[in-house]
Amino acid sequence: MSKEKRITLAWTGASGAPYGLRLLECLLAADYHVYLLISSAARVVLATEHNLKLPAGPDAAKQALVALLGCDAEKLEVCGKEDWFSPVASGSAAPKQMVVCPCSAGTLAAVAHGMSDNLIERAADVVLKERGQLLMVVRETPFSTLHLENMLKLSKMGVTIMPAAPGFYHQPKSVEDLVDFMVARVLDHLGVEQGLVPRWGYDQRS
Ligand SMILES: Cc1cc2nc3c(=O)[nH]c(=O)nc-3n(C[C@H](O)[C@H](O)[C@H](O)COP(=O)(O)O)c2cc1C
Repeated sequence: MSKEKRITLAWTGASGAPYGLRLLECLLAADYHVYLLISSAARVVLATEHNLKLPAGPDAAKQALVALLGCDAEKLEVCGKEDWFSPVASGSAAPKQMVVCPCSAGTLAAVAHGMSDNLIERAADVVLKERGQLLMVVRETPFSTLHLENMLKLSKMGVTIMPAAPGFYHQPKSVEDLVDFMVARVLDHLGVEQGLVPRWGYDQRS
């Protein structure tokens, strides 16, 4: 397995499950090996927003996602909430890149304070201590002062805070277009080739 083409993706309980699903699909299509972490609240949000009821347990959840996305099962690893022996739990083995998408205010706060109380928080803490790349697609509105302070704190540590705030200048025709806008920006920051959305200043001119 190529060491560079590995990434940790965490889905937490913020609104925006379609962002997380689409991002997973794109990373797998780009031949990434994805370690997928799913919080309990994220499962509720997936069921609410996407009618996707993931079965309990990492293996069953993986099978459901492989069937849904038609992806290579070898490329997807779903990790349990307390699977402390997962590669993502240790700086000696964790991928250097991690995205929390969507990211709840709760997980934002936990990561900002180094709680490491579940595998998502621990994996983020590992990426921070190893000086890797951490992107957080935070979704809440309005933001409280506490949310803003937590985002500022993490931003000062090098975390890229990407509020789930799609633009409209590509004239989206569908919810999928809005989702792709956000996912495209995340992929750009990760350095993953994408052609989901026309680039500013190129396609608009022709
Ligand atoms: C349908 C639904 C939508 C939610 N939307 C948000 C949201 O947009 N932002 C947020 O911070 N929390 C949201 N929550 C609340 C979080 O899921 C809750 O705070 C949870 O404890 C977060 O846990 P986690 O960070 O471990 O996933 C939502 C919950 C549900 C059920």
